[in-house]
Amino acid sequence: MAAVVAATRWWRLLLVLSAAGMGASGAPQPPNILLLLMDDMGWGDLGVYGEPSRETPNLDRMAAEGMLFPNFYSANPLCSPSRAALLTGRLPIRNGFYTTNAHARNAYTPQEIVGGIPDSEQLLPELLKKAGYVSKIVGKWHLGHRPQFHPLKHGFDEWFGSPNCHFGPYDNKARPNIPVYRDWEMVGRYYEEFPINLKTGEANLTQIYLQEALDFIKRQARHHPFFLYWAVDATHAPVYASKPFLGTSQRGRYGDAVREIDDSIGKMLELLQDLHVADNTFVFFTSDNGAALISAPEQGECSPSLLTVSPQPAWPSWASVPGIAACEGRPGHRSPSIVTCEGRPGHRSPSIAACEGRPGHRSSDEPLGHGQTWPLMAVVQGLQDTPSLLFSLQGIDFCPGQNVSGVTTHNLEDHTKLPLIFHLGRDPGERFPLSFASAEYQEALSRITSVVQQHQEALVPGQPQLNVCNWAVMNWAPPGCEKLGKCLTPPESIPKKCLWSH
Ligand SMILES: *[C@@H]1O[C@H](CO)[C@@H](O)[C@H](O)[C@H]1NC(C)=O
Ligand SMILES: *[C@@H]1O[C@H](CO)[C@@H](O)[C@H](O)[C@H]1NC(C)=O
Repeated sequence: MAAVVAATRWWRLLLVLSAAGMGASGAPQPPNILLLLMDDMGWGDLGVYGEPSRETPNLDRMAAEGMLFPNFYSANPLCSPSRAALLTGRLPIRNGFYTTNAHARNAYTPQEIVGGIPDSEQLLPELLKKAGYVSKIVGKWHLGHRPQFHPLKHGFDEWFGSPNCHFGPYDNKARPNIPVYRDWEMVGRYYEEFPINLKTGEANLTQIYLQEALDFIKRQARHHPFFLYWAVDATHAPVYASKPFLGTSQRGRYGDAVREIDDSIGKMLELLQDLHVADNTFVFFTSDNGAALISAPEQGECSPSLLTVSPQPAWPSWASVPGIAACEGRPGHRSPSIVTCEGRPGHRSPSIAACEGRPGHRSSDEPLGHGQTWPLMAVVQGLQDTPSLLFSLQGIDFCPGQNVSGVTTHNLEDHTKLPLIFHLGRDPGERFPLSFASAEYQEALSRITSVVQQHQEALVPGQPQLNVCNWAVMNWAPPGCEKLGKCLTPPESIPKKCLWSH
């Protein structure tokens, strides 16, 4: 369950970090946490992961001075379930971010969704609050837009950003434009107060999100430990960049967006240095899912990596995302895998030096399942040298040259009876299924089948949140709309089954 790989290990790491130095008074302040979450950014989109135009100097430097996770998976190949898992540390099937509607896949939170993050889930900022942290989300929330799902009701202290994707513009009649919030109330809508020029690709949102981040870091750094969740969405279609970055990339508009984000991250890291808190700040960079080939070529990339695949389908590689941690004091260290960052109980370092590398060490044989939602679609066991098992899969888009007969398909295919198995160490792009007759296949199948049985026996599915849609619940009249004169009248309430059409 690659899904869980990321989610649980990430949580364990954070818990160790925040436990560090939290003992007696006079102990150092627990580390600040800066979580940089990209939207639809693929594994191969950064210089340090092999993107040839090398237009991400700040992230490349962060990887060189910190740690690079070449084998890092998000919990789901789609935005909302991935984000729900990141913030709860639990698989979407447990936290409710799945659907039991006809297509057991591809469910997220468009503005007609009725569900969202349940109160029973404990989010990372809720846990951190108990340890004295102040938390802010900048950018996209995507865990439900109705009042009970508001991020400030789920542990965050501040918010600047939006509950949904920046799709649009809409006519405010059939469908309202998506609101932008400051804390509890909306301050405008996309394409109105917050313009995005679809023709030129110009929008100032990344700059606004950068200023929000810098301002929060400056205010918090000397007083409280902080958690800043910077969830920007410029690399999600329609991709955008501000004027100074438009046309500056060799890779088109998508590359312009990546360059602006890289530049912004450079400015945040510089501010941490200037405020002398860099040593006590854990910075982690990753993406919600793999590259959005559905948006390529104009709004996404076929980046030249082995793992160039689209979000939505079930393969582990679709959920393979970049992972970089700023690890003070470990210059040049390249982690062979995520587990090198695993916790060492009892270690009380106040800083990210807790992230000490143990090259070649594979501490965890814990079999973890790759979380599609329902039913289980793929499993990754062990690390790079162990095969993964795929129960079912589908591929709706793939890059030129990536069509693999019987593997990439346009329809959902059930492989439960005879699962496809790939050796991720030899074949990270999942292009060469093991021969069904081979001893290696049989050995892997029996090993992983028992893991799957254990998982299914222990599983307590959450109440599915992504089944019901209703046009009346869209962002017609968000809190704060009266002050702005921007309330719209909702249509009649008609709950219906959400159609996940692609
Ligand atoms: C971005 O900000 C600049 C400078 O304030 C302004 O001239 C420009 O119109 C803005 N662009 C958009 C798309 O909002
Ligand atoms: C993929 O390859 C298979 C067989 O090799 C072929 O039948 C199919 O048409 C190809 N699909 C696409 C979209 O290229």
